[in-house]
Amino acid sequence: MTEFPQSRAVILTGAASPRGIGRASAHYLAERGWNIGIIDLDAESARAVAAEIAEQHGVIAAGAGANVADEAQVRAAFDELEAALPQIVGLVNLAGVSSPVPYLEVTADEWDRVIGVNLNGVHYATRRAVESMVKNGVGRVVNLSSVSAQRGGGTFSKTAYSAAKAGVIGFSRSVARELGHDGITVNVISPGPIDTDIMGGTLTDERKEAMAADGVLSRIGTPRDIAAAIAYLISEDAGFVTGQTLNVDGGLYMH
Ligand SMILES: NC(=O)c1ccc[n+]([C@@H]2O[C@H](COP(=O)([O-])OP(=O)(O)OC[C@H]3O[C@@H](n4cnc5c(N)ncnc54)[C@H](O)[C@@H]3O)[C@@H](O)[C@H]2O)c1
Repeated sequence: MTEFPQSRAVILTGAASPRGIGRASAHYLAERGWNIGIIDLDAESARAVAAEIAEQHGVIAAGAGANVADEAQVRAAFDELEAALPQIVGLVNLAGVSSPVPYLEVTADEWDRVIGVNLNGVHYATRRAVESMVKNGVGRVVNLSSVSAQRGGGTFSKTAYSAAKAGVIGFSRSVARELGHDGITVNVISPGPIDTDIMGGTLTDERKEAMAADGVLSRIGTPRDIAAAIAYLISEDAGFVTGQTLNVDGGLYMH
């Protein structure tokens, strides 16, 4: 079995938004010794978050710009980050867009936009990352789905989002099966409502209460709830866990 390197890096896509899950996760992982690569739409914001992480946690951090729906941009960003960081052991695909459009109003462009970022983007980044991980004999991939995929919508976003996020689960299981013998694990986190700005802006207390009432706990989730799950799934100790979907959703979906 290939050793899990002491000096290691994780790349997070979609980690530049100030109140997002990605930025909180990057900080959480850096606190635990991971060197950090950040890919987001805007190169300047990605680099700013990387600089803040390097300064606060004393790790190596680098940022690059890419639209994850564009494979050439994703590959160029990876090349840039790989040159700046220690061995890439982890990839966390968080880049995503919401889509509250009712099914009968979904245009071809809207469908392509949502599938392009939320599903194709996961494939492009995973494909590039595992090319390196396979050579090294070790890798951990974590992809973000949503309770919306499992329950048939029921949150802010509707069918295009659900379809893309359900695709992420099938994609992840299949890559887990194909690359298990190469030392790579692939898992999914399926969050319930988390207090970020992705659902049409910062949530009011009323919206949070209504969302919490749907689950079995008395609150909605925080970015830290998801960061902790990511930290576990990319850890050395999670090496016997693959092809799984971990629901971090306050009990919204039980199966
Ligand atoms: N917040 C929730 O309730 C919730 C629930 C379930 C799943 N999720 C998923 O968690 C992930 C993170 O969401 P968040 O709540 O932190 O939202 P967010 O909007 O704060 O973060 C999304 C990030 O993705 C980036 N991004 C968007 N399109 C991109 C593209 N084409 N290329 C590169 N980067 C792009 C944004 O710039 C942003 O930094 C998403 O995949 C989302 O679908 C969130």
